[in-house]
Amino acid sequence: MKIGSVDHRELFCCSFMESYREYEPEHLPWPDLDNAALTLLRSIPFWGQALNKERQAGVIVSEYAKTLDRGILQDAIALQGEEESRHARLLKVFIERYDIPMPACPPIEIPANLEQTFTVFGFEECLDSFFAFGLFEIAREARVFPEQIFTIFDSIIDEEARHIVFFVNWFTDLQIQRGHGFLPLRSAKTLWYYGRALSSVIKAIGESDPNGAGFTASGASVFSQDLTLEKFLKVCIQENQRRMSKFDSRILQPQLLPRLASTALNTLQLLPKRKAFGEGVRV
Ligand SMILES: [Fe+2]
Ligand SMILES: [Fe+2]
Repeated sequence: MKIGSVDHRELFCCSFMESYREYEPEHLPWPDLDNAALTLLRSIPFWGQALNKERQAGVIVSEYAKTLDRGILQDAIALQGEEESRHARLLKVFIERYDIPMPACPPIEIPANLEQTFTVFGFEECLDSFFAFGLFEIAREARVFPEQIFTIFDSIIDEEARHIVFFVNWFTDLQIQRGHGFLPLRSAKTLWYYGRALSSVIKAIGESDPNGAGFTASGASVFSQDLTLEKFLKVCIQENQRRMSKFDSRILQPQLLPRLASTALNTLQLLPKRKAFGEGVRV
């Protein structure tokens, strides 16, 4: 199928919309947790950051959808906006249900250039989701919470996988429609956006974690004290492959992070064994 064609656009939009799942966060089967699980849950450093990101995503994506002409792209992006708002609602229900201490939520500002903001947000999602896939599996393997908690959050992670697949197809389609489809130009733009996404993630880490521990690394070390960078990357790559294998092979998938992680993993495997995360090796 020709990337940038009407057929391709219909395929990636329809496959996104047809895989929508109906659920209400308030009606999910939230399990009771014992004291040890509650203490661990409340010690995880990223709930506040996650809630704010989802609130912001819901508003930005929904507002961007309103600026588009009516059609399949608008429908798909509006649906993503609804899903992001539902993620924020789910996190709020979760935080209240388990009495997780939270700082006050800052107000959300709607930026002037919504397309640019949606684009930057999409690349940040590609970056965050790749590591979230691995982090989620490490927590699940460690069985630190009842399986019901993981079943609930698995839907969110799968929805994020759908978002990033939709996003890379949308971005490529847009570049082609605007005459910027020449591959080296598109690749340079993609790299520039990933660089920007990385710097905003680093900035967020600095703001949320004054001790300087990496967001993913500090999150991962909560679940597994003997986690090495090698094991972490291996799980991220394997989980990315597993989640991506559910998509139609005719649509594009995010490539940069899995490739970089595979290169880093191959390099690490050639080196003498290093320390675990908790002893100072960070993502
Ligand atoms: Fe989300
Ligand atoms: Fe998302």
